[in-house]
Amino acid sequence: MAKLKNLYAREILDSRATPTIETVAVLESGHYGVSSVPSGALSPTGTYESIELRDNDPNRYFGKGVLKAVGYVNQEISARLLGQEFTSLSQIDTWLTELDGTPNKSRLGANSILSVSMASAKALASAVNTPLYRYLAAIAANTSPLFIPTPVFNMINGGRHGAGNLDFQEFHIIPNKSIGSFASQLQIGAEIYHTIKNLLSRRGAIHSVGDEGGFAPNLFTNLDALEILSQSIIECHKKPTVDVELGLDIAANSFFQDGKYIIKDRSSPMESAEFIDYLHDLNNQYHLKLLEDPLHEDDWKGWIQLTQDLGSTTTIVGDDFLATHKDKVTKAISEKACTAAIIKPNQVGTVTETIAVAKTARDAGWKINVSHRSGETNDTFIADFAVGIGADYAKFGAPARGERVAKYNHFLTIEAELAQNRS
Ligand code: PGA
Ligand code: ZN
Repeated sequence: MAKLKNLYAREILDSRATPTIETVAVLESGHYGVSSVPSGALSPTGTYESIELRDNDPNRYFGKGVLKAVGYVNQEISARLLGQEFTSLSQIDTWLTELDGTPNKSRLGANSILSVSMASAKALASAVNTPLYRYLAAIAANTSPLFIPTPVFNMINGGRHGAGNLDFQEFHIIPNKSIGSFASQLQIGAEIYHTIKNLLSRRGAIHSVGDEGGFAPNLFTNLDALEILSQSIIECHKKPTVDVELGLDIAANSFFQDGKYIIKDRSSPMESAEFIDYLHDLNNQYHLKLLEDPLHEDDWKGWIQLTQDLGSTTTIVGDDFLATHKDKVTKAISEKACTAAIIKPNQVGTVTETIAVAKTARDAGWKINVSHRSGETNDTFIADFAVGIGADYAKFGAPARGERVAKYNHFLTIEAELAQNRS
């Protein structure tokens, strides 16, 4: 049994100079947790995401303030939760969703609710003197040996996160098992990152960084970016596709207009079937390990076709397509529309519901990729979450910028702890 003694929230900034919410949850025992919530580039990013509550007061932060969400935590949510006896995080999450009373958390906001859910999870883990990842593994009923997920480094940022001239949103570097421990994977990630910077310099391309710490270069085509990634792997004395693989978050919603796919690499807009042919060519050339949001979120026919064509060799990942939404995941499983899910707690709003969505995907044999958001804080919750639920992949951006590196560095700590427990 536990009781919350205090809950207080405040408005802080995320990595894009946009307000977000930080909440402290204090148990009667004095154990406490502090958590803050990330935010996508569009809000909500996919049509099906839970709602992030913003003040819409044009006099503060261009309408992006979160004082209403902060107020809900400090008043209505506190009034409901404080002093109530509970036995599990699931009880708190149920109270929160019942109090909100909407299917997409639009009344109290998924941001206020998630901040309370995550802060409570941290407080509860601390109360039983258990590392957060082990506490979350217990909630997820994950009894397998824990491991660090394979990192998916977002090295080049285009689309909504870049400088405006690459259509695809993320160009990934993914170390293979042959690289060894997570520490070695992080090392090769950092070495490749620096090599990409040098390659861009040599080409006279701009190498400032985008929202997720990857470079946002003035390259001409999406293929140029993939070419630079391949070259960087070779310059680091590794073999592309053998030691280090490539992946893409196409984020196709962002360049889909009037039923057609419009990208710089092709002179005219493409129908779905034509764009799928283009993706085949791309895959033949670069042997992509992960292909995220390759098609628009409503192009179900296209998703099913692509999964049929490439799904046995390339992992087809749904992000905006699924929005970590249980109904969408269930439908995509039954229609065989993809083979992996991006899991983002803030698309759902509570920790226990997020775990349930991940379990649905996992039970269908899908891969799980736990992801940050483009607007992040230094909270490392999702690193613990990814280890706890046994995620296959973790996507926290480039191995650069504090809010991204905080999470990768936390993996180093967990890896060391796991090794110690095994020895
Ligand atoms: P977002 O991007 O956080 O801006 O939605 C991340 C992603 O698409 O994976
Ligand atoms: Zn995505």
